[in-house]
Amino acid sequence: MRLFVLIILGFSANVFAQDNSVSQDTQFEVGKAKAKVCMTCHGEDGISTLDPYPNLRGQKLGYLISSLKDYKARERTSGLAILMQQQADSLSDQDIEDISYFFSKIGQEPQQ
Ligand code: HEC
Repeated sequence: MRLFVLIILGFSANVFAQDNSVSQDTQFEVGKAKAKVCMTCHGEDGISTLDPYPNLRGQKLGYLISSLKDYKARERTSGLAILMQQQADSLSDQDIEDISYFFSKIGQEPQQ
């Protein structure tokens, strides 16, 4: 009986440990899927091909999140910000976190 309890405990600890790493990767995949629309301007790998569109690859997570919130709140208005205001309007706070996570991570793969 004691052995049985230990096995259950060991098993659930394992599940928790896995859950953690999976949820990180999941956020990357979810963010990537949600970022499809962004890639038309910011590039599939976060490097844009047109001059007026900034690169997002490897940008700081906090900066991406605060920029998107600023566009949504109309606190960034200069230049081509109107394009981004429209984009940000359609994002929930969760979308903003997932997409920002994705763009911040794609610059951080180990160098090959
Ligand atoms: C129609 C083209 C277009 C699309 C689509 C687009 N963006 Fe942008 N994005 C821009 C432009 C242009 C700017 C620069 C705006 C400015 O002058 O503030 C910008 C700026 C940004 C910035 C600020 C970058 C910085 O360095 O300050 C972030 C973050 C960003 N976009 C994220 C996104 C995300 C996330 C999406 C998808 C939901 C997206 N963009 C979709 C054109 C686009």
